[in-house]
Amino acid sequence: MKYSQLDPFPEGFLWSGSTSAYQVEGATLEDGKGPSVVDLRTQFPEGTSDYKVASDHYHRFREDVALFGEMGLKAYRFSVSWSRVIPDGDGEVNPQGIEFYRNLIGELRSKGIEPIVTLYHFDLPAALHERGGWSNRETIDAFERYARILFEEFGGEVKYWLGINEQNMMILHGDAIGTSGEDHDDSDPHKDLYQQNHHMMLAQARAFNALHEMLPEAKIGPAPNIAIVYAATSKPEDMLAADSYNAIRNWLYLDMAVHGRYNSTAWAYLRAHGWEPKMEDGDLELLASAKADYVAFNYYSSMTVQADHRSMTETKSSAGDQQLGASDPGVQEPADNPNLEKTAFGWEIDTVGFRITFRQIWERYHLPLLVTENGLGAPDTLEADGSVHDGYRIDYLRSHIHAMQEAITDGVEVMGYSPWSAIDLISTHSGVTKRYGFIYVDRDEFDLRTLDRFKKDSFYWYQRVIEANGLPD
Ligand code: BG6
Repeated sequence: MKYSQLDPFPEGFLWSGSTSAYQVEGATLEDGKGPSVVDLRTQFPEGTSDYKVASDHYHRFREDVALFGEMGLKAYRFSVSWSRVIPDGDGEVNPQGIEFYRNLIGELRSKGIEPIVTLYHFDLPAALHERGGWSNRETIDAFERYARILFEEFGGEVKYWLGINEQNMMILHGDAIGTSGEDHDDSDPHKDLYQQNHHMMLAQARAFNALHEMLPEAKIGPAPNIAIVYAATSKPEDMLAADSYNAIRNWLYLDMAVHGRYNSTAWAYLRAHGWEPKMEDGDLELLASAKADYVAFNYYSSMTVQADHRSMTETKSSAGDQQLGASDPGVQEPADNPNLEKTAFGWEIDTVGFRITFRQIWERYHLPLLVTENGLGAPDTLEADGSVHDGYRIDYLRSHIHAMQEAITDGVEVMGYSPWSAIDLISTHSGVTKRYGFIYVDRDEFDLRTLDRFKKDSFYWYQRVIEANGLPD
């Protein structure tokens, strides 16, 4: 469907920008913060740095928020570091951690920027990880307590909340992202992973219910990574593979967060492998009782698969990263999509897939949609005069915003757009060389240089988008 005219973006549309605590803050063990699973990492892909200083946002947040204000952001999506607030995950609260986020939220509010707060973005407290992490049901209690503390402390100032960021990627690509820990048992990790998945779903359900009980005016939703899955050909078995992988990668997580039940195709996949999670009395009731107010999702690209003709009992090979997919015996194997260009880091660029993803999510769930990540990772260059010419990022964002407007014209209710990332930060596994921000941070992998901030061309361009409440002419 190619419209001659597109509907405008709604009034009050949340033009936003995203970050996550461990990727931007630095100060990993400062002012009482405990280590998280990310700080336990000793190995990083060659040539990439750790997260100790990151973008030094912890010390420079006032300057950063001033820049966000200048850019015109209506909202800012960030995550709270669980181990900054509760250093060991379930013990004493760290007052300096609370103070940091109180100051950050206050600073945002003073610039008229709506905070959108993610409870948990990959950085499980190390102390909980050492006690079994998400394999241990006690982590569910710890998460609910942590969520309640945040609702209590910040509920007066924060209306929009997100549960768990990319739970699906932690399950499918935890090794690439660095959330599985380096000491896990590789014999058959999947049974345990799907047990962890079940526990995370219960934890998120408890957080949804706690928010609705404590702050009836506030809103919360899940934030998985959704990549619509295409079939490599029109062969029925390839279509079936795409349908199965859509269920395993995407709908399992949203069906649970919205309808409070396991997706049937994904459940059949778990049963066929013997990976169904152990449940306790009351689990299914709890899951069914929790309600999402909106669906937030991260979108970088679509995915293309073809049928895998092996038996499902063969061993699954190790996965690629979030957008590169994995081959799954008896289900699907990833295929290149020859119709799509790729970023410098090999991720396909698919704006039409963005529109299809909107439509599919909307038709399945009929809840308002909030894009919590979308963006282009690229190695930017800081020029001698302090400019950064990232026209490629503008092209990426422009075409995705256009596709989003087409989806709005298709009838999809979209409440906001929060590109990744508001400011440069450290990628999950490609260091700071893979930059996403509107604001350049002067550092490279191992040389921290000045850490000064510079406005990229995309900064000025996004400023005009926000001013115009849509793409400028
Ligand atoms: C998402 C994550 O997977 O994609 C972010 O929620 C991440 O934390 C982003 O940074 C981009 O991925 P990457 O691997 O390029 O950092």
